[in-house]
Amino acid sequence: MDKHGHFTATFLNCLDNISHLLILRCLIADSRGQVMSLDIEAIRADFPILDRVLPNGKKLVYFDNAATSQKPQVVIDAMSRYYEEYNSNAHRANHTLADEATTALEEARSKISRYFGTTPENMIYTSGATEAINLVAYGWARYNLQRDDVVVVTEMEHHADIVPWQELNKEKGIEVRYVPINSKTFTLDMEAFEVALEDAKLVCVVHTSNVLGIRNPVEEIIEKSQAVGARVLLDCAQGAPHERIFFDNMGADFVAISAHKMAGPTGIGCILVKSDAMAEMGPFMTGGSMIRRVSTKGTTFQEGHAMFETGTPRIAEAIGWGAAVEWLSQFDMKEVHAHIHDISSWTADQMLEIPGIRVFGDPNHPNSSGAVSFLHDSIQSQDLAILLDEGGFAVRTGHHCAQPLMDALGVPSTNRASFWIYNTLDEAQAFVEHLRYVCERFA
Ligand SMILES: Cc1ncc(COP(=O)(O)O)c(C=O)c1O
Repeated sequence: MDKHGHFTATFLNCLDNISHLLILRCLIADSRGQVMSLDIEAIRADFPILDRVLPNGKKLVYFDNAATSQKPQVVIDAMSRYYEEYNSNAHRANHTLADEATTALEEARSKISRYFGTTPENMIYTSGATEAINLVAYGWARYNLQRDDVVVVTEMEHHADIVPWQELNKEKGIEVRYVPINSKTFTLDMEAFEVALEDAKLVCVVHTSNVLGIRNPVEEIIEKSQAVGARVLLDCAQGAPHERIFFDNMGADFVAISAHKMAGPTGIGCILVKSDAMAEMGPFMTGGSMIRRVSTKGTTFQEGHAMFETGTPRIAEAIGWGAAVEWLSQFDMKEVHAHIHDISSWTADQMLEIPGIRVFGDPNHPNSSGAVSFLHDSIQSQDLAILLDEGGFAVRTGHHCAQPLMDALGVPSTNRASFWIYNTLDEAQAFVEHLRYVCERFA
């Protein structure tokens, strides 16, 4: 093709892409009867890191949100202010700084528990979703389950919701039953789930898969589990960033949450616990703060959530998370979900047009969130990630801490692009173009 022919082809191609995006945007508007009210440019301005230019001169396009989201300036400021102005331990001394730190820690607990539709008494701070699930395993199941009692988990779980149960199997002889996924639809096999429920004492299910982006039918799972008398633990590490969780209305007994995937800092999360389930729990980690009285003869413990918060609290992190939920509260999470879903389903559709690309999951399903896992049939996932990084695109590669799911999918790893509130269709379009270029060049 001569220079003019090439220019014309490129121009037409651009027009085609632009019109595709315009049409898509109109469709987004039409399908909801109104144009979405999320102001993505204003949202992006809250995240200083999104202006980052990488060492190779490429502008960062951050598509690794399922691993951890970026943090808005208000979160960074709230944490810096604590360290700059009133850094002190909480619940320990009577000086001004200690009072301020204690007040800020407890105010954060009120904000966070309110955001999740429950009370401070039903929330226990943890280091993240992993510790939250371990707290259920070692603070509830260890005290309440006996040999041969059944814990149902799914093949879709993150390792955080598999390994603790395997360890309790070794320690206490509980039975761990795995619900398979349907390998065609990538959804949970609900018939197998109902069979696995027989005599179950606890059902542990991921709300939204970190690999497939699929949201499980948690309402049905809760109802069916409770009908057989089983308690339910939901791993909402990926659910909370795209859906508002209202714990008191949900019916689950335990809900594990991670702050760092929803604009909050790393190192903090919580487990939300129904009052009657909390009353059945015993100490998990022991030491300072969780005690009432210690003598050489023995120890008595605090009651309620205080029994499970051992040692110096995560003060800066709690304050940062409080700022994050305040920031998130300005948005309607249904719109956030719709925004993420529109980007992920559009991206997945475009990726499927690229020869050699396979997508796992069902990104077009209205409940699917922003994780799109994919593989190229001849470019290794690690290599593909490096080639994408060269274009400025940050995606995750590996087994995503979900090796049983990888086994079920018949692959050792996948690439995963995961989108959140600040990502745009323009970024997605640039990503697809770069991916197409890389695949054509290196396949
Ligand atoms: C579904 C799911 N569960 C649990 C976790 C662990 O969360 P945390 O990093 O807060 O321990 C993750 C993190 O990737 C996750 O995606």
